[in-house]
Amino acid sequence: MQVNGYKPLIVAFCCNWCSYAGADLAGNNRLNYPADVKIIRVPCSCRVNPMFVLRAFQRGADGVILCGCHPGDCHYTSGNYYTRRRMALLFSMLDYLGIERERTRVEWVSAAEGAKFAATMNDFVQTVAALGENKRLEDLRCRK
Ligand code: FES
Repeated sequence: MQVNGYKPLIVAFCCNWCSYAGADLAGNNRLNYPADVKIIRVPCSCRVNPMFVLRAFQRGADGVILCGCHPGDCHYTSGNYYTRRRMALLFSMLDYLGIERERTRVEWVSAAEGAKFAATMNDFVQTVAALGENKRLEDLRCRK
């Protein structure tokens, strides 16, 4: 998806048991979402260390979204409760780093919610595209 000739790079961490299956379902149902979304499958949303999010920004991501099972549905019982707490802390620190809060998001997507997955990704990409390129951590980026 291009907005004013600019294509944002989006990293989506998806838990294996719900969100990744939701992404699969979106694909099977031929629901469109931008190819700029690069999905990284993780066993559970709680596997995502907040440093992964910062590292993604450092390596050039314009937006990072974290998707997991709905609260109470985590395959590992309480993983997504940890995620919720960790990410709330991370999001409060992003302000301090000067990264717009809208560049990150946590969403709960079940395996049966392919349509929600596609809609969420479309909305997130549009939001990030409207913000423009993420230049905040550019000075720390590894250049080729
Ligand atoms: Fe999906 Fe834990 S297995 S959030």
